[in-house]
Amino acid sequence: MNIEEWEEYRYVESGINNFIDQMNESSLKKMVEHVCNTGGKRIRPIILLLSSEICSGSYQQSLNAALAIEIMHSASLIHDDLLDQGLVRRNLPSAPEKFGPSRALLCGDYLIAKCFEFISPYGEQVVRDFGKAGMDMAEGEVLDLKLDKDNFGENNYFECIYKKTASLFAISASIGAYTGGADETLARRFNVFGNCLGTAYQIVDDILEFLEVVEGKESKFTSETLPHVYMKNMSKEEAIEKSIEAVKLRVNAAKETLLTFNECPARDKLFQITDYITVDMLEIV
Ligand code: IPE
Ligand code: IPE
Ligand code: MG
Repeated sequence: MNIEEWEEYRYVESGINNFIDQMNESSLKKMVEHVCNTGGKRIRPIILLLSSEICSGSYQQSLNAALAIEIMHSASLIHDDLLDQGLVRRNLPSAPEKFGPSRALLCGDYLIAKCFEFISPYGEQVVRDFGKAGMDMAEGEVLDLKLDKDNFGENNYFECIYKKTASLFAISASIGAYTGGADETLARRFNVFGNCLGTAYQIVDDILEFLEVVEGKESKFTSETLPHVYMKNMSKEEAIEKSIEAVKLRVNAAKETLLTFNECPARDKLFQITDYITVDMLEIV
C-alpha cells in the first residue's frame, strides 16, 4: 500500500502547502515548514476525508477540517518533543532541537490558534468536539509525565493513550462524518472506529519503542509502554504477547465498526489504513 499515491493524501499535501505559502516570510514560517512539511504520514486528515466520503461528502467540504486536525497534530508533536526532550523526529532534528525550546513552544501555540481558524466555520458541535480533543490531549500528556511512576498501571495506561492519541483519531473520523452530512448516531459510530484505531496505533508505537526498533525518532525520555506495564506481573515474552493481543482486539473492533458503514472505495481505504498502522507495523516483531 502506498498512501502517498492516494488522492486524499495529495489534497492534504496541497492544503498544507497553501497554508504555509500564505504566511509572511519569517522565522515562524520556517518553523511551521519544518514541522508541517517534513514527511508526516497524514493519517488523521486522511481518515477525516475518507469518513466524509463514506457519508457522501466531498473533499471540498471537508478539507479545511482535515487541515485543522493535521495542524493540531503538528502542534502536539512540538509540545511532545519539548516534554520528552525529543531529539530526532521523522529522521530530522526535532523542532526544539533545531530552533530551541522557546521558539518551538511559540510555534506550537501559533499552530493551535491557526487550527481553530480552519475549524470554526464547521459549526458549534464540530468546534466543541475539536476543542475537547485538544483538552484531552493535554490531559493525556500530563498523565504521561508519570508523576507517580510506581502506581502507573494498565488502567492509567489506557486512559493516558485514549486522551493523548485516540481522542484525535476519534474526532478525525466523527468530524469527517459530520462534514459529510451524517447525523449524531452515525457520527458516534465513526468516533468508535477512530478510538479503536488510535488506541491500537499508540500501543503499536509503544511496542516498537519498547523493543527499540523505532527508526527516525529519538528522545531523551520515553513514555510508559504497555509491555512495560505488563512486565510488572509476567515475563517479557508474555508481556509482549499480551500487548499484541491488545492491539488485535482493537483492530478487530475497528474493522467490525467499519463493516457497518456503506460499502465503497473510501471504506476499503479505511480498512487498508487500519492494517497499515497496526498489524503491518508489527510484522518486524
Ligand atoms: C506520532 O504520530 C505520535 C503518536 C501518536 C505515536 P504519527 O506517527 O501519526 O506522526 P507523523 O505525523 O506520521 O510523523
Ligand atoms: C504521543 O506520545 C504524542 C502525542 C500524542 C502528541 P509519544 O511520546 O509516545 O509519541 P512519539 O513516540 O514521541 O511520537
Ligand atoms: Mg514523544
